[in-house]
Amino acid sequence: MRILGIETSCDECSLSVVENGRKILGLVTYSQLEEHKQFGGVVPELASRMHVQHISCVFAQLINELSILPQNNNNVDSQNISKNTTIQTFSRKEYTNYLKEYIDGIAVTVCPGLSGSLMVGLHFAKGLALALEKPLIGIDHILAHFYSGQLVETILYPYIGVVVSGGHTLIAIIHSFDTIEIIGTSIDDACGEAFEKIARALNLGYPGGSSIDRLARNGDIKAATFPIYSLKKNGYNFSYSGLKTAVIHHRDKYWNTDYPQTKEHISATFQHAAITMIVERVQKVVVESKIPRVSFGGGVACNSYLAQEIMKLDIEKVIIPLPEYCADNAAMIAGLGYQYLSREISSDLNIGVNARKYLYKAYKN
Ligand code: KG4
Ligand code: ZN
Repeated sequence: MRILGIETSCDECSLSVVENGRKILGLVTYSQLEEHKQFGGVVPELASRMHVQHISCVFAQLINELSILPQNNNNVDSQNISKNTTIQTFSRKEYTNYLKEYIDGIAVTVCPGLSGSLMVGLHFAKGLALALEKPLIGIDHILAHFYSGQLVETILYPYIGVVVSGGHTLIAIIHSFDTIEIIGTSIDDACGEAFEKIARALNLGYPGGSSIDRLARNGDIKAATFPIYSLKKNGYNFSYSGLKTAVIHHRDKYWNTDYPQTKEHISATFQHAAITMIVERVQKVVVESKIPRVSFGGGVACNSYLAQEIMKLDIEKVIIPLPEYCADNAAMIAGLGYQYLSREISSDLNIGVNARKYLYKAYKN
C-alpha cells in the first residue's frame, strides 16, 4: 500500500510517498528558510502564502522523481523547484489514472501547527482525494514525529519517544501508532525556541540551532555553569526559560570584554545545559519504565552533542533518524497514514485543521 504524505504545518512544504508504512519511495521538501531569515523567525502569513506558491511544484517534482508517469516529460527544474513548472502534458484523465494506480491514500497533517499553513496542505490533499477517489487521512504532527523512528527500523512497542523541536518538547511512552502517554513537556519555552533565542542573543542569525551546535565544538563546557531544571521538581517536565535568562545575563556580563571565545563558550555551556536536561530525563525514564528503546524526532534531535551524550547511556536501542526525517517531513506523515489506512481508518472529507488540538489517543492503564 502506497500513501502520499503532505506536511505543511509550519515552514516546510514536504510531500512523500511511503510504501507499507516504512519504505520511503520519495521525499521532496521545500524549506522556506530563506524567505523567513530576514524576519528572524517564521512569519505565519508569509508561510501560508509560500505553501500556496510551492506545493504544486513540490508535488510535480515528487511525481517526476518517482517516475509515476510513463515518459519523463513533466518539465520540472530540480535545481529550483520554486520556479513555475509544467506539471504534465497528458490529458487530465490519463494523468489522474496514472496517479490512481500508484497512490492508495492521502495522509495530511491537520494539527497542531499554523492554521493557514495547515489549511494549504489540507485543501491540496482534499482536492487530490476527490480527484483520485482515494481515502483521506488526517494526521497529528506530533504523533508523526514519534513515528519517524519507525521509518529507520521496526521498533517494538512500547518505546520511549522524545520530540524536541522549535515548538514542542515532549517525552512520552509510545504504546502504539496512535496511543501515547505523555510523561513530560516543557512548562515554558520549547527546547528549539531556547536555541533560537540564544542564537539571536549571540547574533548568529536564523535558524540558530545548527550554528550553536557548530560553534559549541570549539567551546569549553566548563567555561560557565547554568541551571538545569531539576528532575525532582516536576516529574519529567522541562523548563528552558530560566536557563535562557541565565545565559543572556552571562552574555551581558562578558560581552565586549577580553573573555576569550565568548560565542563558542556560551554556545557550549548553554548547549550542555539544554541537552543534559533531555539526556537526564531519557536516562531516568528508561530505568524507571524498564523500556530500553528510545526514538527521537524534531529539529533539535539533529544536535551532535545530543547524539554524543545519548550514546554514552546504556540503552539497548536508540534511534535518531537522519536530519531530513528528524525535522518536519512528509515521510513520517505518510508512514503513519499507512498505519491508519491498513486498519481501514480514514477521515471525513469535511475534516478541518486545528492549530492546537491533538489527535492521539491518551493511554489508559
Ligand atoms: O522540527 P523542526 O525542524 O521544526 C519545528 O520547530 O517544528 O525544528 C526546528 C528547530 C529550530 O528551533 C532549530 O534551531 C532546531 O530545531 N535545530 C537544532 C539543530 N538543528 C535544528 N537545534 C540544536 N542543534 C541542531 N543541530
Ligand atoms: Zn515538527
